[in-house]
Amino acid sequence: RQLKSRSIESVAHYILNRPVSKVVVLTGAGISTSAGIPDFRSPETGLYANLSRLNLPYAEAVFDIAYFRQNPEPFYTLAAELYPGKFRPTLAHSFIRLLADKGLLLKLFTQNIDCLEREAGVPGDLIVEAHGSFAEQSCIECKLFYDKDEIRKHVAAKTIPRCPSCDGLVKPEIVFFGEQLPAAFFANRMLPVEADLVIVMGTSLTVQPFASLPQLAREDAVRVLINKEVVGGLGSRADDVVVLEDCDEGVRQLAKALGWLNDLEALWAE
Ligand code: OAD
Repeated sequence: RQLKSRSIESVAHYILNRPVSKVVVLTGAGISTSAGIPDFRSPETGLYANLSRLNLPYAEAVFDIAYFRQNPEPFYTLAAELYPGKFRPTLAHSFIRLLADKGLLLKLFTQNIDCLEREAGVPGDLIVEAHGSFAEQSCIECKLFYDKDEIRKHVAAKTIPRCPSCDGLVKPEIVFFGEQLPAAFFANRMLPVEADLVIVMGTSLTVQPFASLPQLAREDAVRVLINKEVVGGLGSRADDVVVLEDCDEGVRQLAKALGWLNDLEALWAE
């Protein structure tokens, strides 16, 4: 066993004294809810529980490529609400930045499309946006890239952008159900095997293949879950630590145990 007990203090001791140099962080929508962005599956507040106005056959259809081809309007209605630019990174994002600043972050795998990791200053080469992002957009037919300012105009006007070359539908390069994950995901997906520490935060771990990443951690690595609920079988190994807290509170406790609380708060205040 690596840990004396399943406490945050033991995790901090492990990080500082082993010393840990390779941390893999796996995140989902729960790290952005305190920024004001809803997650997907929380029963009352999640996006999927609040889409009745879009008249979808089922909630996930809004992110389904086959449905989008027939009816892109619900997605574009929602896109206006979700478009990056109006949200501020959370303390949990700053904690990931802090890990990067300290040279400990091997890779962040995020399912989020809000670009808040970059905004918090996590270096782009350390981020795998497993479900893509709003950073680029292209035609779903001929793949031609589409101009950023043009799509913003359409999103603001709630009109549907079309490809100037083939008239196909244009879509931000976020991964829809029925689409492949980006090549960067497959190029990096074995990195959790190299990690001394895997931190999972703010995800229900329901969407594959992302949901399988925590299982790749070696048996002698430590896995920490910071989430409102237990997910993905975390807690089943002797060196798993489950912190059933708000993500911001969980990282605050971990930073405090590490003696990094001032660094963390300074970064967040930037
Ligand atoms: P979910 O909404 O499925 O899960 C969010 C998780 O975070 C849940 O377990 C919540 O309990 C927890 N949570 C929410 N707020 C929290 C907070 N402040 N502190 C701690 N925990 C909190 O979101 P994801 O797991 O990210 O994919 O969803 C995965 C994928 O499903 C998304 O990337 C998206 C969606 O369909 C696509 O659209 C392709």
